[in-house]
Amino acid sequence: MDQKEISKIFKSVSSVEDLEKLRLQYLGKKGLVSLEMKSLASLSIEEKKIKGQELNNFKSFFENELKNKKNEIEKLFFNEKLKKEKIDTSLPPRNFNSGKIHPISQTIYKVIDIFGSMGFSVKSGPDIETDFNNFTALNIPDHHPAREMQDTFYIDDKVLRTHTSPVQVRTMLQSKPPIRIIVPGRTYRSDSDSTHTPMFHQVEGLLIDKSSTMAHLKGCLIDFLKEFFEINDLKYRFRPSYFPFTEPSAEMDIAYLKKDNVIKFGEGEDWLEILGCGMVNPIVLENCKIDSSQYQGFAFGMGIERLSMLKYGISDIRSFYESDFRWLNHYGFNPIDSISSLGL
Ligand code: PHE
Repeated sequence: MDQKEISKIFKSVSSVEDLEKLRLQYLGKKGLVSLEMKSLASLSIEEKKIKGQELNNFKSFFENELKNKKNEIEKLFFNEKLKKEKIDTSLPPRNFNSGKIHPISQTIYKVIDIFGSMGFSVKSGPDIETDFNNFTALNIPDHHPAREMQDTFYIDDKVLRTHTSPVQVRTMLQSKPPIRIIVPGRTYRSDSDSTHTPMFHQVEGLLIDKSSTMAHLKGCLIDFLKEFFEINDLKYRFRPSYFPFTEPSAEMDIAYLKKDNVIKFGEGEDWLEILGCGMVNPIVLENCKIDSSQYQGFAFGMGIERLSMLKYGISDIRSFYESDFRWLNHYGFNPIDSISSLGL
């Protein structure tokens, strides 16, 4: 059992299987080393010592060779595998179309994007609100008919917010003017048909400073809608309205034309209500510890579902919440397009 000879044999082995065969041939129960060990029995003590030592040396030499060769083969195999499984990370992800952004999310991103570019920042508040924030501070006192109008869900002494306006109150109580915020979020009313769901989304806007007027409010909303619907000569109107928390108040409609079951926005003779707005009622400013002799501003609120239905041609509001994958596949947005609309 010449070591040089053995090294040569090891060099010629190139697979784990052949290596195992070689191991069995020498170190297996019936291998050459075992046989030699057995043959020691017939030798004299002196010879046993010498031969035994030799055999042990050979065994550890062999085991060492075995280990090195095994490492070498595994390394080769691993590098080969890495080469085969190489991926080009600059390619677009596979299964590109398997996840979609819900149109409600997409609409919220777009609204944030547009108002963000006008200098509004995003605020949020809890879905479960105090009666004070949802109603009283907004000049809707106890037993006021406006509470009935909103079909409120009550939870003990709290309410599920019926609009995003309570975040106006939270913001004014927490921070000093100037304030320029939008608040997208969930809202709740006990109502359900093809144009109402018990949970829906609104986006609130609030601007407080020393000089903003109704003209600024109008300009801001017109710019927003033109940008949102991507229609430059959008036909719209402001109608006088009433909200306890704004004075004066208005609602904004946009025109639409229905022809051969296709709806076109921004033109025609029919009107669709799109949002409520007005100058913040000084009573609300005072309720929120803001000096109404120094500060004024405007607020607006609009339904996200309504905006989304109009922009993307969705006819039944309930379909937003049915979690039908086919529907989402049709109306949803590819994540990459969606992100690019945020300018990221
Ligand atoms: N909160 C009102 C609603 O839910 C909308 C609104 C907000 C109107 C702000 C005026 C100002 O109908």
